[in-house]
Amino acid sequence: MSDTLTLRRPDDWHLHLRDGAMLKGVLPETARHFARAIIMPNLVPPVVTGAQAAAYRDRIRAALPDDMRFEPLMTLYLTEDTDPDDMAAAHASGLITAVKLYPAGATTNSASGVRDFERVRPVLERMAEIGLPLCVHGEVTDADIDIFDREAVFIDRVLDPIRRATPGLRVVMEHVTTSDAVDYARSGGEDLGATITTHHLVINRNDILVGGIKPHYYCLPVAKREEHRLALRAAATSGEPTFFLGTDSAPHVDPLKEQACGCAGCFTATNTLSILAEVFEQDGALDRFEGFVSLHGPRFYHLPVNEDTITLTKGDPVVYPAKLDTGEGPVTIFDPMMPLHWRVT
Ligand code: DOR
Ligand code: ZN
Repeated sequence: MSDTLTLRRPDDWHLHLRDGAMLKGVLPETARHFARAIIMPNLVPPVVTGAQAAAYRDRIRAALPDDMRFEPLMTLYLTEDTDPDDMAAAHASGLITAVKLYPAGATTNSASGVRDFERVRPVLERMAEIGLPLCVHGEVTDADIDIFDREAVFIDRVLDPIRRATPGLRVVMEHVTTSDAVDYARSGGEDLGATITTHHLVINRNDILVGGIKPHYYCLPVAKREEHRLALRAAATSGEPTFFLGTDSAPHVDPLKEQACGCAGCFTATNTLSILAEVFEQDGALDRFEGFVSLHGPRFYHLPVNEDTITLTKGDPVVYPAKLDTGEGPVTIFDPMMPLHWRVT
C-alpha cells in the first residue's frame, strides 16, 4: 500500500459550529480540510426560520479566515410551529440543504424540538413533495427507556411510522450508533442515508466508564457495546453509499464537560481525517475511504462532488494538541487512544 492517499476534498455531513467566539475558534479546524458541512441549527435560540438561517450563514462566512474556502450548508431546526411556506422558500432559494429533527429533550439545546410528531406532519409532507431531506436525531426521550436502547426504540416507534406515512420523504439517520440502525439504514433504499461519526468508530461504552468516568467521551447518542462499534466500522468501511461521514464534532469548553452534569459532545474536527485514515487502514479498506468521506454524501444530497483534492501522507505518528484554545476557553480535542500515522499534507 502506498504511503500517499489523494482523494476528492471531503465534506462533513453533520457539524456543530456554534456562534460568536466559539465559531471563530472552531471553524478553521473544519475549513482547513473540508469543503462543505451540514451545519446544525441547535443554537440558543435555535435556527428556526429562513431569516435566522441566512443570518447564521452570514456570521459563519464572516468568521472564516480570508485564506480559507468553505461552504456552510444550512439547516432549519424543526419545531411544532415550523411554517411550511417559510421552509419551502428557504429551500427554493438554495439557502437550506436540510431540516433537522430533534425529539424534544433528546440532547443539547433540543428543548424546542418535537414532542407530538402528528403536529409536524404537514411540514414533513411538504418536505417529501419538494425533496428536502430530514436529518434525524434518532433517540426517544421516554424516561422509562434505557439510554442504551433509545436509538433502537426510536426506529420502531417513530422513524419507521413516519417513513411509512410519508412516502418520498428523504431521511438521514444521523450519527447511528447501533447495529439496529445500520440494518435499518441498509434496508431503506435510495431515500434513506445514515451518517457515522469518527468517534463512534473508535470508542465503545467501556471507554466512557471503565477506570473512571471520561467526560470527553460522553456524547449523544452515547457510545454502545463493542458489537455495535464493530457494526459501525463494517458499515463505514463497506463501500455502501448509504453510509457517509458526519463527524458531529460538537465543541463545549472544558469546564462545561468536566462538571457534575457535563455536556454531551466530542470535538473531533482537528484530527478527524487522521483518525479515519487509521481506521480504514486497520480494516483494510483504504480504497473505500474516499467513498465514505467525499462521495457518498454528495450522492445522497444530490450535490456535485468536490473537484479539488487533498492528500494524506503516512509517516511517524502525528501528535495533535490536547486542546484547542478558543475565545470562549479551552476545548479538548478527541483522543483516539491510538497512534495516528496519516496527516493531511
Ligand atoms: O453529543 C452531542 N452533542 N450530541 C448531540 O446530539 C448534540 C451535540 C451538541 O450540540 O453538543
Ligand atoms: Zn450533532
